[in-house]
Amino acid sequence: MPMIYAHRGASGYAPENTLRAFALAADMHADGVELDVQRTRDNVLVVFHDETVDRVTGGHGFIADMTLAEVKRLRVCKPFPDQPDEIPTLEEVFSLLKARGLKCNAELKNSVLPYPGMEEQTLDLAAKTGMTGAMLYSSFNHYSMARIKQLDPTAKTGLLYGATLVRPWDYAKSAGADALHPEFTEVLQVADEVQRAHALGIEINPWTVNAPEHLRAMIDAGCDRIITNYPDRALAMLG
Ligand code: G3P
Ligand code: MG
Repeated sequence: MPMIYAHRGASGYAPENTLRAFALAADMHADGVELDVQRTRDNVLVVFHDETVDRVTGGHGFIADMTLAEVKRLRVCKPFPDQPDEIPTLEEVFSLLKARGLKCNAELKNSVLPYPGMEEQTLDLAAKTGMTGAMLYSSFNHYSMARIKQLDPTAKTGLLYGATLVRPWDYAKSAGADALHPEFTEVLQVADEVQRAHALGIEINPWTVNAPEHLRAMIDAGCDRIITNYPDRALAMLG
């Protein structure tokens, strides 16, 4: 049975990547959450998807150009204007997840801005908050996942991508990763992808699976973790 990870928290119901969305995922009994990590000008890791704040807050500009104090003055208010919430630090989110017993897929957003040292910082914060054993790291920057392995060979890593690759399981194996994180349509298109990956000890953790028919297909394909904005839908299917 797959584990169900709430994408940016239960972001189908609450502002993405906020404590509100992560608490809601816990209330829905998700196994874990997926979240996105960016970094402020004063080097604090925060949980936010985009490099800029424009899409989901009333503000403007790059997170990397703002101090934490400036980031904390913003509110994530789109598309749920009646549920505004702060941009949380990664430490605040790890503390909530630890208290609620949730696992975490931390996606390092270091494929646009490089954020040097983000890997060490994230591993250290996971250790500080007691989350080390609950962590799975991922990134579209696959060198960053190699860096995670170099820093902690016991850390679990997943390779994110949005293409339909040829024999991605071989690539994951040669890159030293534990999991493939494909955009879910790849699993629909590549015959026996899950079986081929599993034969090499590689997990398949597709994103972002929201429609009931797609959730059903990912469950039936034997995926390991399903990343969805609607964890309640997926969990209802699993009974
Ligand atoms: O980690 C799965 C998914 O979140 C990757 O894409 O853009 O939603 O962060 P994105
Ligand atoms: Mg993400």
